[in-house]
Amino acid sequence: MENSRPSLFKLDYNSPEFLKSPFRYYRIMQARYPLYFHAPTNAYLLTRYEDVALALKDPLFSTACNDDLFGHMFRKTLIQLEGQEHIVFRNMISTPLRGKDLMQHTIPVIIKQVQALMEGLLGRKQFNFVSDFAARLPIAVMTAILGVDPKDLSFIQQCYKTIVRNLGNFAGNPAIKAEGSRMVIALCNYMYPLIRQYRLQPGPGLISLLSSAEIHGIKMTDQDIIDAIGSLISAGIETVDRTLRSLFRNLIAHPDQLALVRHNRHLVSHAIAETLRLNAPAQIMLRQPIEDYYIAGGMIPAHARVLCIIGAANRDSRKFSHPDTFDINRPDLDVNKAFIGSANHVAFGTGRHFCVGAMLAKAEISIAANILLDHFSDLRFLDNKIPAETGFSTRTVLRMNLETTEPPTTLLPYTFDPALLEP
Ligand code: HEM
Repeated sequence: MENSRPSLFKLDYNSPEFLKSPFRYYRIMQARYPLYFHAPTNAYLLTRYEDVALALKDPLFSTACNDDLFGHMFRKTLIQLEGQEHIVFRNMISTPLRGKDLMQHTIPVIIKQVQALMEGLLGRKQFNFVSDFAARLPIAVMTAILGVDPKDLSFIQQCYKTIVRNLGNFAGNPAIKAEGSRMVIALCNYMYPLIRQYRLQPGPGLISLLSSAEIHGIKMTDQDIIDAIGSLISAGIETVDRTLRSLFRNLIAHPDQLALVRHNRHLVSHAIAETLRLNAPAQIMLRQPIEDYYIAGGMIPAHARVLCIIGAANRDSRKFSHPDTFDINRPDLDVNKAFIGSANHVAFGTGRHFCVGAMLAKAEISIAANILLDHFSDLRFLDNKIPAETGFSTRTVLRMNLETTEPPTTLLPYTFDPALLEP
C-alpha cells in the first residue's frame, strides 16, 4: 500500500512540462510507484502493461465510473454498460461495423470521403494536415455511416465537440457539463423524427439498421438509439483523427520508414499498428473496482476511481523493447493481431470493452494513408520542424503544416484491396 502514496513524487496533469512528455513521469511510476495515488483528483493510476491489461479485463473492475463523464448526456453508451445488457447492445451496434457489412456499405463511403478531401488538396504546395484532412475525414465518414443528411454535418460536428469537451472534464467543471446536457436535448430533437421515419421506412445507414435491430426479442428504444449514437460519436471520431495525425507525423519524421511503406503498401498496417502502440490517441481508460482490489503491490479501495494509462502501458519496457522508438518492423508487436481482441498493444483497450470500431478504424486510416501516398511523392514538415505532441487523456499534435515539391494535379483512381480487412 505504501508504494501507492509517494510523498516526494508529485504529478501535475496540467503543467506544461508534464503535457510535453508525460512518458518521463510514467517511467518513474512504472519503476517506483506502479500504483500511484493522485490526491488532487482522488484517483489511482496504473501504468505498467500487465496491471493495465488486468484492470481492463477483470470484471471486478467496472466501467460504471464513466457515468461521471457521460451520465448527464447518455445513460447507456457501451462503455457504461456491463453484463448481459452490454453483450446485447454491443452485438447490435458492432455487427454493421464488421465483416461483410463493413465491406459492402462502409468501404465505398470511406473512399468517397477520402477522395473528396484529396480533391481539395490538388495543386497545393502547402497544406495543414490537421484542418485540411485528418480532422475532417472521420466526422464526414461517421455522418455518412449513421445515415445523417450531409447538410447536417456541422450539427453532428458541434455535438461531437461538446462530447469531447465532456470526456476530458475530469475536474467536473459544471459549465462544461451544462453544455453537454443542452447538446443532448438538441441531439434528441434532431434524431427522434429521423428514427421515427426510419422505423416506418428503412433508409441508408446505421440509425436505420438500429431502428429495426432485434436480438432475442429485444428491440432498441429511441433512447437506446440515442445512446448508441453517443457511443459512436464519442469513440469513433477523435481517435481516428488523432491516429491519422500521429501516423503521418511518425512517417514524415522517419523518411527511411516512409520510403519502405511507400514502396510496400503491405507495411501501411505495420505503420498504423506501431503508431497506435507508440501514440495511443486515447491515453486513459477509467475503471472502478467493485471491491477492495490488490494490484501492483498495493490495494485500491472499492469504488475508487482508477486511471488505466494505456499510453504508458504501450511503452512499458517490460513489454516492448526500446519502447519510445517508432519502428514499423519491431518484432515484439504482432501486426496480425493488432486490430483484433488478442492485440498485444492496448490502444484499443482489451477484454469485453475492446474497441468495436477497430476494423473500421483500420479500414479508414489505411485507405486514407494509401490515397495520400498515391498522390504525394514527397511530403515534408513546413520549416523542417517536427511538430510536438501534447495532451494527457488524449494526445497528438495540434497543428501539422506540410509541404510538397510536386503537388498532385489530378485525382487518381483507387482500388480497394480486401486484404486490408484481414486481421
Ligand atoms: C484508431 C482508432 C480507435 C482507437 C484507438 C479506439 C480506442 C478504443 C478504446 C481504447 C476502447 C476501450 C474503452 C475502454 O475499455 O474503456 C474503445 C472502445 C470503443 N470504441 Fe474505439 N477506438 C478507435 C476507433 C473507433 C471507431 C472508428 C469506432 C466506431 C465507429 C469506435 C467505437 C468504439 C466503441 C463503441 C467502444 C466501446 C466498446 C464497449 O464498451 O464495448 N472506436 N475504443
